[in-house]
Amino acid sequence: MENPNTHSRRAFLKTAAASAALAGAVGRGAEPSRTARIGIVGVGGRGTGLLQTMLQFPNVAVPAVCDILADRAGRAQEIVEQATGARPQAYTQGERDWQRLVERDDLDAVLTATPWQWHAPIMVAAMKAGKYAATEVPAAVTLEECWDLVRTSEQTGMPCMMLENVCYFQEALTLLRMVREGLFGDLLHAEAGYQHDCRSLMFTGDGKLTWRGEHSAAKNGNLYPTHPIGPIAQWMDINRGDRFTRISSSSTKAAGLKQYAARKFGPDHPLAQRDYALGDVNTSILQTARGRTVTLYFDMSTPRPYDLIFRLQGTEGIHMGGDKGGIYLEGKSPTPHAYEPFAPYMQKYAHPLWTALQEQAKQHGGHGGSDYVLMHDFLKAVINRTPLPQDVYDAAAWSAITPLSIDSVAQNGSAIDFPDFTQGKWQSRPPVPIHGA
Ligand SMILES: NC(=O)c1ccc[n+]([C@@H]2O[C@H](COP(=O)([O-])OP(=O)(O)OC[C@H]3O[C@@H](n4cnc5c(N)ncnc54)[C@H](O)[C@@H]3O)[C@@H](O)[C@H]2O)c1
Repeated sequence: MENPNTHSRRAFLKTAAASAALAGAVGRGAEPSRTARIGIVGVGGRGTGLLQTMLQFPNVAVPAVCDILADRAGRAQEIVEQATGARPQAYTQGERDWQRLVERDDLDAVLTATPWQWHAPIMVAAMKAGKYAATEVPAAVTLEECWDLVRTSEQTGMPCMMLENVCYFQEALTLLRMVREGLFGDLLHAEAGYQHDCRSLMFTGDGKLTWRGEHSAAKNGNLYPTHPIGPIAQWMDINRGDRFTRISSSSTKAAGLKQYAARKFGPDHPLAQRDYALGDVNTSILQTARGRTVTLYFDMSTPRPYDLIFRLQGTEGIHMGGDKGGIYLEGKSPTPHAYEPFAPYMQKYAHPLWTALQEQAKQHGGHGGSDYVLMHDFLKAVINRTPLPQDVYDAAAWSAITPLSIDSVAQNGSAIDFPDFTQGKWQSRPPVPIHGA
């Protein structure tokens, strides 16, 4: 992640590339006429990264930061002051001090990157206070929270966005454009997974569970579904022409975290002796109203390379991510029954957002530049007071996979009905547009 302290923001502003980004972000030419005023809650690893990405854009002010740890809030104050010249107020008086932040009258949006259980309460409070609300993933941990978000957004008229950055991966957006242009025909199936060895994030160095570890100790299901499901939902027009109708989910036994704790802390340590609810590999199958299926994997507790999979299949062909993958399109690919490389398609079907922002994104945004493209899209909507690019129905449906999968695992993999958070509106809502910067 780019550190703004090592890269002068003013120097950045002078570049032609920045002018182009600005023109897109404010929609009114190179000189910004309005600023997005953002309050940020939770400035740990991810919150600080998002703050740094957001400060790459010139038309951003951060008047308030909040964290239960004063040193983290202090670090965020420093970062903002160095970048903008104005020191934000810090809110550090306990785990509900964000309530004072959301009540400020000088914020357009509140963004949270706290542990999961705070996301929905903070967003609900922000929307009720008339602010745009944004959160790190997932937006909610229970179905009740999903409905709370939907009802609050509908009642207040305030948009809310789960900042699902994988939707902005270059590959994901290229595929979205290819789907729209009909290259895959009618979509049938997709497969993706959050498969990332995160065992080290479950334990503190001095032998305790982190907040992530507490979730893994207590719950068995897909605890992190939004990264893989976000792009799939956009390809498949979920809540915009199609919707998830059923989910069934099964987990393997739980062995990985116990084994890891025994190696790290010794076999007699309480963390090596205790049980963990979370099965090591969870597999969920979702069905849609238009006869499609999705296979989702969740695997954070085993030794393995990172792999999102990204399989997308339709009546005209298949894309398969990863080293052994590629693309096969009937009547177009040169060799029958064989993948061809996807790289030329990345060029030919480049998404206009990436065409416009590629250079700055690769330089200034984490996750292959996608964080920058996402932040651009978010700030543009806040500044123009337009709807956010991912909405409350996306946030609810993508996050709901966690509690639904937990229910299904508890019922030996029985299929569970998927709530329709749009309450019928999915049939007439337009698909995600292919838009530029
Ligand atoms: N999109 C991505 O690529 C990505 C990557 C990493 C993390 N995340 C998500 O970001 C979020 C944060 O993860 P992280 O790795 O930064 O965790 P972290 O533990 O490093 O940071 C969380 C911060 O929130 C603070 N906090 C806790 N409770 C609070 C409260 N009530 N009020 C204010 N601050 C509070 C903590 O002190 C800490 O500084 C999670 O939802 C995680 O899933 C997303």
